[in-house]
Amino acid sequence: MKKARIIGTGSYLPEKVLTNYDLEKMVATSNEWISARTGIVERRIAAENEMTSDLAVKAANRALEMAGVSAAEIDLVVVGTITGDFPWPSTACIVQDKIGAINAAAWDVSAACSGFVYALTSAAQYLQNGTAKRALVIGAEVLSRIIDWEDRNTCILFGDGAGAVVLEAQEGEHGILSSHLHSDGSYWDLLYQPGFGSRYPASVAGIKERLPFLHMAGNEVFKVAVRSMHDVAVEALEANNMTVKDVKLLFPHQANQRILDAVLKRLKLRVDQMYVNVDMCGNTSGASIPIALDEANRKGLLNADDILVFDAFGGGFTWGACLLRW
Ligand code: ACO
Repeated sequence: MKKARIIGTGSYLPEKVLTNYDLEKMVATSNEWISARTGIVERRIAAENEMTSDLAVKAANRALEMAGVSAAEIDLVVVGTITGDFPWPSTACIVQDKIGAINAAAWDVSAACSGFVYALTSAAQYLQNGTAKRALVIGAEVLSRIIDWEDRNTCILFGDGAGAVVLEAQEGEHGILSSHLHSDGSYWDLLYQPGFGSRYPASVAGIKERLPFLHMAGNEVFKVAVRSMHDVAVEALEANNMTVKDVKLLFPHQANQRILDAVLKRLKLRVDQMYVNVDMCGNTSGASIPIALDEANRKGLLNADDILVFDAFGGGFTWGACLLRW
């Protein structure tokens, strides 16, 4: 079977920076509280006229350029997002149109902060089984539009951004070696956006009840996230007869520094084996792993044959890991 190999990466962060000091002026919080509890210093916020597809397109074009592949050569466009331009059609279709990927099938994957790992795994199946040659996989979010900016428990955590990879089906040892996806829907109401869907259709009363905004039970999320991200990383290593010693870099979903510290400690990873940029991006949900990957790639941190692990956790709950040889 062929492997799905990443041949290009790209990312885009909106220009506007929102610092912890800016947040001090918006809700009852402090730079000290946010830094100590989350490790986040600043995050990016999309401009009023920027949509998720705009961020996705910028990241995608950078990935295509690095890969040396034209949009017309892409067979699949798969976008992991929970903040699409519209409830439907999919943001992937809008991206397809904007970049001119005229030969692609396009669809979105809804797996919250695990969106990129789910999207990557979905696309990789088609490359591995020979039904597609190249895929564009994107994680893109404008979370600032579903954040309750009056809720200090959540508004300090999130940021906007997009990351993308171009995947190509190749013979040989390089590419995704295994993927491991999990869900536990019994936790759906610990992290979700209540309105407006078929459960709570659009209504003025619903807006007053703040239904269109993200709701989160932070403490519960924290515990399950740490356990799940640890367990699925171990599962991926064991499936490949590897240990943490084999890992060059683990790219965790950048939820917050305390979750990452706890995962690092449990996995017994060295600090330099985990790539972290949550301090400057905040939690960008499905975009966080491909943004971090592109950052590391463009810094020259990735060498051929390096073993990388993507390790995600998000609403649903969903979680998953991909282990790959670079
Ligand atoms: N500034 C100041 N005080 C605050 C703030 C804030 N921004 N937010 C909450 N507080 C207060 C609370 O009101 C509470 O006050 P009280 O004791 O008077 O009631 C106190 O701080 C402690 O609140 P906790 O919620 O217990 O704080 P905790 O130490 O658990 O930290 C946090 C909260 C950072 C959200 C933590 O639970 C966490 O990291 N959870 C993980 C959730 C997460 O990262 N979600 C991201 C999405 S899921 C994902 O990406 C995997």
